[in-house]
Amino acid sequence: MPLPVRARTLAVLTCLLGIALTFPTLAAGDNGGFTPKTPESPGAEAIIDTFYLILALTAAIFLLVTSSLLLFIVRFRSRGRPRSTEGPQVRGNTRLELAWTGLPVLILAAIATFVFIKLPSIDNPSSASAAGSELRVTVKGYRFYWQFEYPNGAIGIDDLRLPVGRVVDLAVTTAPTEVQHSWWIPSLGGKIDAIPGRVNHMKLLVKKEGTYVGQCAEFCGIQHAAMLAKVEALPTSEFDGWVKKEGTAQRGKASDLGAITWHGACSKCHGPQAQGYIGPKLQGNPIVQDRQGLETVIRYGRGMMPRVGPDWDAKQIDALQTYMKQHFGQQGGASGGG
Ligand code: CUA
Repeated sequence: MPLPVRARTLAVLTCLLGIALTFPTLAAGDNGGFTPKTPESPGAEAIIDTFYLILALTAAIFLLVTSSLLLFIVRFRSRGRPRSTEGPQVRGNTRLELAWTGLPVLILAAIATFVFIKLPSIDNPSSASAAGSELRVTVKGYRFYWQFEYPNGAIGIDDLRLPVGRVVDLAVTTAPTEVQHSWWIPSLGGKIDAIPGRVNHMKLLVKKEGTYVGQCAEFCGIQHAAMLAKVEALPTSEFDGWVKKEGTAQRGKASDLGAITWHGACSKCHGPQAQGYIGPKLQGNPIVQDRQGLETVIRYGRGMMPRVGPDWDAKQIDALQTYMKQHFGQQGGASGGG
């Protein structure tokens, strides 16, 4: 026996609603870019809490509005009434009107209160834990890499190592001649801009060992997409040992600063083997041997090439040249291995 028209319409609408709700639920279940990353710092936790509160309220409003819309479409349909005849006219319902005015005010007040309660811990995680002494790391955005400078002078690129459970003050900035970049590791907190001539601070407390990835969040030029960053959170003693060793190594003969700089800053445009990519081939290029020429190009750029290291110190340029001479000094590529 066929279903009556009304029941059939209802069944179709219910199916459509079910299908519509299935897709986002599947995406959310698989974290297909639909739900935020799991927070691993107090700042990120406060951001996620706020996100979920607003999501819950807006989802409830969405369901309320769409279900009453569907209900009204079905309940007050024309039922074959001629188009020229008006349907029943309904005017005024004081209680209902008070409710839909008052409720949104209460919801917005609840969101504002919640955000103001959470704001301090987004900004400063030390209020959320009894953490040890503070470590300051300078984070500089350049076209197209992130350079990290530790208190003992050690330099890292794109790969920031931090101790677990210790408050870190990230001093985010860039050279006066740079464009703007934005530092962002989603599971560790919000974005913070690297602005020429300004130092922005971000306090960070990573709670768990692990690797957390991020991306420059400000469109900054042709290789913006290659401006990835990674935070490696290590146990405090391991971090202390590493940073000490790295600082000493970079001052001496066994420095890996040249390799770090080549792979982080130069290879993204010139190719890992200096074979040429967006930028020209550098294998066997005379500039590899020319300290002054190399420095000029690094500091001031040339043609399409940005000022890749406008404020690098001599140590870093020397280390880079040593690495380049070893690996790309002759036509045809690597001569020094590794
Ligand atoms: Cu730096 Cu986008």
